[in-house]
Order: sequence, then structure tokens, then C-alpha cells
Amino acid sequence: MRVLLGSDHGGLRLKREIKQLLEEMGVSYEDAGCHGEESVDYPDYARPVAERVASGEFDFGILICGTGIGMSIAANKVKGVRCAVVSDEYSARMSREHNNANVLALGERVIGPDLARSIVRAWLSTDFAGGRHGRRVEKIRALEG
Ligand code: RB5
Repeated sequence: MRVLLGSDHGGLRLKREIKQLLEEMGVSYEDAGCHGEESVDYPDYARPVAERVASGEFDFGILICGTGIGMSIAANKVKGVRCAVVSDEYSARMSREHNNANVLALGERVIGPDLARSIVRAWLSTDFAGGRHGRRVEKIRALEG
């Protein structure tokens, strides 16, 4: 499993926490930035992560900003991306099982590091259920034209 991470300045500290978690889990990852505390624009980091997941280069993306909202809005503009902004473990599991989300967005200013860790663990360890959910995800794909 290969995961691509991205954040703006508002998600930098939580991204460091998630990198540590991925190392503990033995999950291979790359950090697509940002790398410093200076203020940056979240779409500049959402876009490459979303495109590299959509192309198949990475299995999953995790995007972190202050709320997760800007990152999710931007990532969902990229064809083939299903990005879910999540702040609880149940939604994390459902976004994989029912929606086949391939990008997870988190808000550093919304959730604490321990909850973020549980969310990422749940998200990465839940498979898509397929079946009737597959039909629904296909209908989402059809919206992309
Ligand atoms: C940056 O201040 C903030 O707007 C950004 O991190 C994010 O929360 C946007 O959705």
C-alpha cells in the first residue's frame, strides 16, 4: 500500500503525527508538501495529491488543512477522486466501505492527534464492500462525464 500525504501550513503538525503513525504501521508513504510553517494555498497541495492518486501512482491520499474542507473541495474536482472529510471513526470506515473513498481529508483545527490516528487506522484498514455500493459509486463516476 502506498499513501501520498499533503497539507497546507494549517495541517503541518497533524501531518507529522500521521507520518509517525504510518511508520509505526509499516505503511509506505511520500510527503508531497508543504514542508514549512509559512502560509500557503491548500489547492496547490490538494491538486498533485489528487492527481497522483487518480493516476494510480498511489493507492490512497491523505490531505490535511485547518478544517479538511478546502482540501476536500479541491481534491474532489479531480476526476477519479472520491475525497471524504472525516472527523470520526465511523465515518472513516463508512467512507471506505460504502463510498470507496480514495482520499481522506482531516482538519488539524477540528480533531486532536489521538482521534486523527484512530481515523487513519480505521480508514486504511477498511475495504470497499462493493455490491450495491459499487453500483452507486459507478453513478458518481458517471457524473464526472
Ligand atoms: C488556512 O488558514 C485554512 O483556511 C485552511 O487550512 C483550511 O482550513 C481550508 O479549508
